[in-house]
Amino acid sequence: MQISAELIKKVAEAKKVCVLTGAGVSAESGVPTFRGGGNSAVWKGMPFDQISSARMVKENLPEVWEWFDYRRGVLKDCKPNEAHRALMFWESRLRENFLLVTQNIDGLHTQAGSRNIIELHGNIQRSKCTKGCRLKYEMLPTEIPHSPDICDLCDAPLRPDVVLFGEMLPEGYFEYAVEFANDCDLFMSIGTSAVVYPAASLAEIAKKKGAFCIEINPEETPASYLYNESLRGKAGEILPKILQ
Ligand code: APR
Repeated sequence: MQISAELIKKVAEAKKVCVLTGAGVSAESGVPTFRGGGNSAVWKGMPFDQISSARMVKENLPEVWEWFDYRRGVLKDCKPNEAHRALMFWESRLRENFLLVTQNIDGLHTQAGSRNIIELHGNIQRSKCTKGCRLKYEMLPTEIPHSPDICDLCDAPLRPDVVLFGEMLPEGYFEYAVEFANDCDLFMSIGTSAVVYPAASLAEIAKKKGAFCIEINPEETPASYLYNESLRGKAGEILPKILQ
């Protein structure tokens, strides 16, 4: 795909950058997306937004864990790709003027070295107490099924530390992302179908404040109309070219 010199210049000259990523940024690492088909869209006949829901945690926690352990198993052999690395490189140039907001729970951005990152939807390698105490538990990627099972403090069962359908985002995370998006001069959305809110609203916020907005996605999304440029292709191929 041809990228215009004008766009490359725009990216190179941006002083404050906010990037939103979704499942598509990890697709080239072998992580299945949710809405692009693939083998994670349905679990035992249940759509992913049903098995990954607050209601299922209440009604059938073992089944939720089975699904999340399955996904942790898929992730075990996945490594960061060129897109994750390019974003880490971009951050190293702009430092505190770069914020990566990800909807992904796979931890691949952090593995690639990104530090100014907000994991809006949590992390699949962490668990927390179902009673809502503040203790969190890191799991080893190789520890499948997960362990431990019970909270040391409350004796209550643990659940994945991810934001499920029907749940609120962790306090403060989205607010910080909004503050940054309000004030950036370049906003980039990569590999997200832009249908899950509030993450999808970040582009609207940045656009309203006059940021130059770029989308990278092989497919058109409901938010494509917002962007100054929509680059149709794979993140791992396009990002290194833009940031050359
Ligand atoms: N490069 C860039 N984009 C890609 C690539 C790629 N190589 N491959 C696929 N895509 C695009 C798809 O076209 C699709 O638009 O990535 C997008 C993935 O969309 P979703 O699967 O809907 O993922 P996401 O937008 O992250 O979902 C948001 O929904 O299920 C919840 O909590 C879950 O965080 C997730 C949220």
